[in-house]
Amino acid sequence: MAQARESWKSRGGFIIAAAGSAVGLGNIWRFPYVAGENGGGAFIILYLAIVFTVGFSIFLAEQTIGRAAQRSPAAAFRRLKGGVWPILGYIGVLCAVVILPFYSVIGGWTLGFIWKTVAGTASDAGGFGAFISHGWLPILFHGLFMAATATVVIAGINQGIERWCRILLPGLVILMFVLIIRSVSLSGAEKGIAFFLSPDFSKVTMLTVQAALSQAFFSISVGMGVMITYGSYISRDRSLPGDAAWVVGLDSSFAIMAGLIILPAVFAFGQNPSAGPALTFVTLPQIFSQIPGGIFFGLLFFLMLSVAALTSAISILEVAVAHLGDEHNVSRHKGTIWTGFVLFLVGIPASLSFGPWADITLFGMTIFDLMDFFATKLLLPGGAIGMALFVGWVFWPDAAKSLYAEGEAPPRWAFVWRWMCAIIAPALILWVMIGGF
Ligand code: PHE
Repeated sequence: MAQARESWKSRGGFIIAAAGSAVGLGNIWRFPYVAGENGGGAFIILYLAIVFTVGFSIFLAEQTIGRAAQRSPAAAFRRLKGGVWPILGYIGVLCAVVILPFYSVIGGWTLGFIWKTVAGTASDAGGFGAFISHGWLPILFHGLFMAATATVVIAGINQGIERWCRILLPGLVILMFVLIIRSVSLSGAEKGIAFFLSPDFSKVTMLTVQAALSQAFFSISVGMGVMITYGSYISRDRSLPGDAAWVVGLDSSFAIMAGLIILPAVFAFGQNPSAGPALTFVTLPQIFSQIPGGIFFGLLFFLMLSVAALTSAISILEVAVAHLGDEHNVSRHKGTIWTGFVLFLVGIPASLSFGPWADITLFGMTIFDLMDFFATKLLLPGGAIGMALFVGWVFWPDAAKSLYAEGEAPPRWAFVWRWMCAIIAPALILWVMIGGF
């Protein structure tokens, strides 16, 4: 390699970039309505229990693999063990290549809605459907979103990812606080808060547990090697578990904050909380059009959504770019431009599947749904199982020695983590995967 590997410059560098990756559309767009449909507070308790046990274990597994190997996924597995294990890295890259295009399509919608809010057309009846099925317009915004993502990644770890996440994440927190205050102070908001937070355990079934588990993995960005890649930029003198706890904690806090923005507003205006995905792009703009200063708050909301989506998209692109660099010596510049461009093209059919290509289906799914299903129901959980097994059986006991700074003894609880990775997490994920069919 021509250059020494970059590492996070500041103490919180990894935390901020990894939290940027974790906090995304999964938290803001998906979590509130999934929680709403699955028993509110009961779902939240279940979700937190899962994310801080199984989720945390796999997060730590990825982070440890990356830091120990100082390489992106495929190269990391080759360096630590070789054999068939690098395949896990390739699965991760494949995952990135499938997820980023459709993630960017939705990212494009958020940009489109910033524009529509300013133009005053965001709340038009049927406006959302007309926008996403328009053809070239959402593709244009998808291209803009992809270009923004590439612009950050091309500038590298310190000057690009770390710097931008350091600006964007605190910005996101401020935007969210403003919106929470606005939302919970609407008259009638209490009903939404109660719906979101008060636990209804009668709604908890096996399906709820499965929904919580798959939401948890997607939300903390594990399964495709983002945390291996980001972990590979952590220097050897840092201890990992504290950082992991921070990221998982921040991610959960953002999810709950998102619920406190969306559900109180929905209830205050007597809207249907189980409108699912449409809640964000249809219900909320209607609400914004009815409150004083609605254009301002609507603008803040879609800005917030774009920022959250952008810092996640960056991490997905970085997996592919780091892979090309470590495995094929492709420069960051070339790798980012080519990957960004190709994945923009891959996203075009995904975007068109909401409009002109809506009739093209396979197994009853559109192109967009197929990509989503293949990546988030098969590749992500499959990758997570593989990585957990790797740490529990192959990379053990070195994994324990890699948790803290070089030369420090492993923590006493390391064996709990080991059995989590070796048996409990893989078994649980497998059960969820099977349930998904
Ligand atoms: N965690 C991101 C979200 O919640 C999505 C994501 C998944 C990002 C996998 C990277 C890897 O939206």
